[in-house]
Amino acid sequence: MSLRLLTRRIVATPSRLRPLARTLVTPSQPATASVTEAPKADAEAPAESAPSGFKLQPRQSRGGFVNGRPIYLDAQATTPMDPRVLDKMLPLLTEQYGNPHSRTHAYGWEAEELVENAREEVAKLINAGPKDIVFTSGATESNNLIVKGIANFHKSKKKHIITTQTEHKCVLDSCRFLQSQGFEVTYLPVGPTGLVSLDELKAALRPDTSLVSIMFVNNEIGVIQPIAEISRVIKEYAKEQGVTKPLLHTDAAQAVGKVPVDVEAMGIDVMSISGHKIYGPKGVGAAYVRRRPRVRLEPLIHGGGQERGLRSGTVPAPIVVGLGEAARLAREEMAADHAHVSRLSKRLVEGINENVGYVVRNGDPEHGYPGCVNLSFAYVEGESLLMALKDVALSSGSACTSASLEPSYVLRALGASDDMAHSSLRFGIGRFTTDEEIEMVIKRITQVVTKLRDMSPLWEMAVEEGIDLSTIEWSGH
Ligand SMILES: Cc1ncc(COP(=O)(O)O)c(C=O)c1O
Repeated sequence: MSLRLLTRRIVATPSRLRPLARTLVTPSQPATASVTEAPKADAEAPAESAPSGFKLQPRQSRGGFVNGRPIYLDAQATTPMDPRVLDKMLPLLTEQYGNPHSRTHAYGWEAEELVENAREEVAKLINAGPKDIVFTSGATESNNLIVKGIANFHKSKKKHIITTQTEHKCVLDSCRFLQSQGFEVTYLPVGPTGLVSLDELKAALRPDTSLVSIMFVNNEIGVIQPIAEISRVIKEYAKEQGVTKPLLHTDAAQAVGKVPVDVEAMGIDVMSISGHKIYGPKGVGAAYVRRRPRVRLEPLIHGGGQERGLRSGTVPAPIVVGLGEAARLAREEMAADHAHVSRLSKRLVEGINENVGYVVRNGDPEHGYPGCVNLSFAYVEGESLLMALKDVALSSGSACTSASLEPSYVLRALGASDDMAHSSLRFGIGRFTTDEEIEMVIKRITQVVTKLRDMSPLWEMAVEEGIDLSTIEWSGH
């Protein structure tokens, strides 16, 4: 034991690599620019030098571009890694490169300790125990592991699964795959704001339902499902019917770290987490798999038996440590992040409302995450909007597949018309979004929507001439 401790000290992080307290990207400051006051190039600002050796560019804004790059407003697709996360990871990419499963030397012990600290941080964020956390490559893998793993484990007695029509593709496609293997899946519809109905859930439950998989925050419209109530409905059903309780899974890739998630209080059995949605690295995530009472599932990957045998393969210590630090920061800063994102979200919606008419907000702002604002601009094609808004990085409500532009299945599930689904944009606001960027985006949206509508014959007919477009009989050629 004393040898172990001694050797550990010898390979401890050299001081030059030890993370220093620093902020590379300044968190947003109070409003500094207005629509009329375009941000000035700030060429005089000195270049900051990061402890990691990177030379940092001073911030230069021109048009919508910041440092020659578009304003990033796509926080649901991914988030920039917090520089404090990078600081934590760097020593593991240089000096502390041990395999966390090596038992015979200090490099391994050191990496193991760092991985276990990260596990604790992820667990604390969701009020779980560290042993309930299984590291994976991201939420796609966690969702596949949980949905297929639970279905397969219980298949001799239970072959029914319930999910919703608005899940992420990785849940929907895992369910479709299971259907091809003989399972039955109920895809619950959602109401006009994207919420599932508890009554419809109750009616769909069956004695052979092994799993209910309902996402926490939707990635396209930000709606938050009532997970605690969903859990209650499932428990009541099992009690009334005298059957074993179906397990509750929630894909919380867009929720963890953004809104409070408490697996105990909310009665969640299994959950999926992604690193790159919470300012952590890409390629890492976690599955929460409750141990008491124990959730049984079949692994997808077989091998060395790491991660309780549920996910074989060497745990990638650098990115796992990054996930742990991202989780710690999210826990400590969640209230501040939420207040910041809410304020900017409110300003964005107000600013667009003041300047542009015929805009519909998709989702449910009452029960939604404010950092995801999905708007449909009537009489404007979402893709044309995106093309004209080259200086803002956004997503549209059209899933661009190889051959066609299909309207988003999530918006369709809300009952949106194809036109409105096609004209939608998703604004993703995050920890590093600034007031200046929001003002610039309001200004650019106003300019571009006005210009596109001025050129649109539909806009002219419907709004300027008051013709009801649904009464027109279009002639084909
Ligand atoms: C709700 C949801 N689930 C799952 C995923 C997949 O996450 P990952 O990129 O970690 O595989 C995403 C990311 O787009 C998501 O938004």
